[in-house]
Amino acid sequence: MAGQHLIIVGKSGVGRSTVAANVGAALAETGRRVLLIGYDNHRSSAGNLSGGSELKALPLWGHGEEPPLYAHGYRGALCLEAGGGVAEDEAAQAALWAHPLVAAFQPEFVLHDVAWEPCGTFRLPVGIDGVASILAVTSADRCALQAVNGLFGWLNTVAAANARLGGVVANNLTGPLQEAIVSDFAGQTGASVTATIPHSIMVSVSDFYSQTLLESAPFSHVTYAYRKLAKTLVEAATQRRPRQLDDEAMRKWSAKWGDIIAELETGVVNGGLGI
Ligand SMILES: Nc1ncnc2c1ncn2[C@@H]1O[C@H](COP(=O)(O)OP(=O)(O)OP(=O)(O)O)[C@@H](O)[C@H]1O
Ligand SMILES: [Mg+2]
Repeated sequence: MAGQHLIIVGKSGVGRSTVAANVGAALAETGRRVLLIGYDNHRSSAGNLSGGSELKALPLWGHGEEPPLYAHGYRGALCLEAGGGVAEDEAAQAALWAHPLVAAFQPEFVLHDVAWEPCGTFRLPVGIDGVASILAVTSADRCALQAVNGLFGWLNTVAAANARLGGVVANNLTGPLQEAIVSDFAGQTGASVTATIPHSIMVSVSDFYSQTLLESAPFSHVTYAYRKLAKTLVEAATQRRPRQLDDEAMRKWSAKWGDIIAELETGVVNGGLGI
């Protein structure tokens, strides 16, 4: 499968699926064609990116009993829940890539939400064309960082010949101390922190709405952290020239921020943009 492959890796519970869905949404918002694949038995990766719309069984699935689930989500993103074993099952993964609905989609970015446990073995999902970028998601907890450290070990083996570190995503941080912990770990290991995502109650809110932050809290500071991460990922692939706003667009933009700031300052909610 062509496209830029991003493998979202991290210790269980660290926020992999949250990061995958929100990065996917932020990339889709830039106009990129995004495919998100979750390989989790609970099939809990793609729900938020699909905006809570019903995931349906992939039609005409000829491989195995349990067909992957799919939905079209935020800004046209294609969301797939492949289920547990598919990442390592060459025939199943090949059947997924060759499926008409997936093959015709021609994604620019393919996000894989896969597990990595400190003591487990790790394999790249099979059937990726070119070099895959690994986004290592971690909190500032020792266990989570230890898992990333294990991943760095794997990145130095021959099995990782087609993978490179896209960066460390420091997630769920509660303050500068935690930021310093992850950044110091990255400094020590020669890695770079690509994104710092703060702990935010808005992540829970969007989770309860079964949406990404881009949909449910478009102006939240944590949403901007995802937009920034998406921009970094896009710029790694292509460089685009900036676009000038025309007068009308500039006026709308200005009025929108006037509303947001007024809501925040006065506590009077009109459109809810400032929440
Ligand atoms: N930045 C954040 N701020 C607040 N809560 C967060 C943040 N990131 C993740 N969470 C919450 O942490 C919990 C775990 O996140 P998530 O399900 O994405 O983790 P995971 O690594 O995919 O877990 P699993 O191993 O179960 O697949 C969720 O309830 C999510 O809403
Ligand atoms: Mg998950």
